[in-house]
Amino acid sequence: MSVTVRVPAKVNVQLAVGGARPDGFHDLANVFLAVGLYDEVTVRPAPSLTITCTGPGCDQVPLDRTNLAARAAELLAARHGISPDVHIHIAKDIPVAGGMAGGSADGAGALLACDVLWGLGSSREELLSICAELGSDVPFSLVGGAALGTGRGEQLTELEVRGTFHWVFAMADGGLSTPVVFGEFDRLNAGVAVPDPVASPALAAALRTGDAAALADALVNDLQPAALSLRPSLAATLSTGMSAGALASLVSGSGPTTAFLTKDADGAEAVASALMSSGTCRAARVTTGPARGATVV
Ligand code: C5P
Repeated sequence: MSVTVRVPAKVNVQLAVGGARPDGFHDLANVFLAVGLYDEVTVRPAPSLTITCTGPGCDQVPLDRTNLAARAAELLAARHGISPDVHIHIAKDIPVAGGMAGGSADGAGALLACDVLWGLGSSREELLSICAELGSDVPFSLVGGAALGTGRGEQLTELEVRGTFHWVFAMADGGLSTPVVFGEFDRLNAGVAVPDPVASPALAAALRTGDAAALADALVNDLQPAALSLRPSLAATLSTGMSAGALASLVSGSGPTTAFLTKDADGAEAVASALMSSGTCRAARVTTGPARGATVV
């Protein structure tokens, strides 16, 4: 018997970052939108906890207990006094260390898959509390759709979204470490009074009305200067997508994946082909958002 869960990637359509807190985290006003790039996590009974991974960048995915999928299985098992004896297979399509919450997706996916495999029937609240323990972005991977994350990003309020937004994602060579990007944010803002992060009403309205042009005007990522400082070549990727007709471009989360919002599906195809022929990225993918959260398939 095995259970497979499909989990979406995310793009942050607003990532407002406050100053560093005493615990090292940053308060955020973080609006997540789930998009249609997915990892699939399959679990089945095994003599002990093991992980395998296939797909682009899988050689950079840890196969030990530092993997969020393994930690999810262990935390869930510990809460129920059972042993986490499963084999976890991750079929990767979300860019690794790309700023699209791929590792968080695997954590949420393994959690839901183990809950079903072990017949635990945990409530959504129980699963969300384990997700928050695993990492700031993991609760959203479970929920999907669109949501505002406050605190360090883990306290979620679901947001209404109408219609479909068309996106292109440009994958970069290699990843960027999220803590390193936050560290660069702190370095760039040293001596600056960083304002408290505030959720944008204009952005919530753009999501609620399905207005791509208004969403384009409201997109903001406070981590973008830090990601560009660490990876200056991303500027050429961003400008290539804009020249090809994107409504807006931004770095996805902590990067180095870049995101392009377009008016429609044809616009997305045009931006993707310009990006692919430009040599400024490893790959370009067309997709849409919102997407469903973690789902048993
Ligand atoms: O929560 P998560 O484990 O995904 O966070 C990874 C790292 O990103 C943290 O250790 C921290 O350095 C940084 N981070 C942060 N503020 C947040 C979320 C993450 O500084 N709100």
